[in-house]
Amino acid sequence: MTALPQDGDRIALHARDVRFDFSALRTDWIPDEPFASHLIDVLHLLLPEGERWFVEVFSQALPMVRDDALAEDVRGFIGQEAMHASSHQGALDHLGEAGIDVTRYVEQVEWIFGELLGERGLSGDEAREWLVERVGLVAAIEHLTAVLGEWILHSPELDAAGADPQMLDMLRWHGAEEVEHRSVAHDLYVHLDGRYLRRIRAMLVTAPALIRLWASGTAQLCARDPGLRGTPARRARVRDYLRASRRGLVPGPMLFTRAMLSYLNPRFHPANHGDTDAAVAYLAVSPAARAAEAEPSSGTAEPTIDTAAEPTIDTAAEPSRSTATAPTADTAAEPRSSTAAAPSSSTAAEHGGAA
Ligand SMILES: [Fe+2]
Ligand SMILES: [Fe+2]
Repeated sequence: MTALPQDGDRIALHARDVRFDFSALRTDWIPDEPFASHLIDVLHLLLPEGERWFVEVFSQALPMVRDDALAEDVRGFIGQEAMHASSHQGALDHLGEAGIDVTRYVEQVEWIFGELLGERGLSGDEAREWLVERVGLVAAIEHLTAVLGEWILHSPELDAAGADPQMLDMLRWHGAEEVEHRSVAHDLYVHLDGRYLRRIRAMLVTAPALIRLWASGTAQLCARDPGLRGTPARRARVRDYLRASRRGLVPGPMLFTRAMLSYLNPRFHPANHGDTDAAVAYLAVSPAARAAEAEPSSGTAEPTIDTAAEPTIDTAAEPSRSTATAPTADTAAEPRSSTAAAPSSSTAAEHGGAA
């Protein structure tokens, strides 16, 4: 088990009990940009099930954590991801109410997270290895969600295009929390195992799978949108993606290329990537986050899964692999996700009009 970088400016991660009403949301919530709207809508198809799986995996890993600060971060992560899942579930339900039937796609996603990546009836060392493998997969996905979070916090083109303010607030609240907790999965993986090749293997599995799921999800949303019936927009094409990315309406391919290259660095640590100031600043002005914080009874949401539950594998023993890499110079220099910083007024102002 590896000691974690210490810092004195940690953010205490907590879930915000946000509420969104999508009942009046247009299917092209970026007006007249159905492709870009649906490409981002794929989040609603993947994340409810995916983030509930994060919560399950981290709840199982929590009893194995021998570092109090990391355990606190893992609890905060679980609470935030549970709230993300339920918020995207609301958006997914709205897509169905709007006549876009993605039942089969969602069933495939449920199979991936529930069966392919679910419990395998293992015990002892095999169960532990499978759990660590899944923590590595979560860490890889979390690097990409942090990159997406960073992008959505700096996407004035969506405001200029007239994107729906409530959907933007949901995406930016989520993106800000992804930036806020971007180091937790990596730190947990390093704490439990930390092997470089395993970390890279997880990303080499994750990235192509996500690209394929994203392309398929976008195509299905466009094909099944009743408002696009009989129009060329019914067919999602690569050139539509390149055009939308050039206009800043969706993340571009270079963003992901740079993200992948940074992950290959043996000294990679999420704290060295991403803008915590922008995340904290947005959360200070987000209408949904502010409303949640203003309600004493609901300002701090509880995780939906009992994290105190007995672990399903033997966690009494020390992790069998304690060969995790020592904190690298750059991780020691930079605090982990919990890098707290007072919101800079300029950043707050920049994002204040976003939602
Ligand atoms: Fe999330
Ligand atoms: Fe996350």
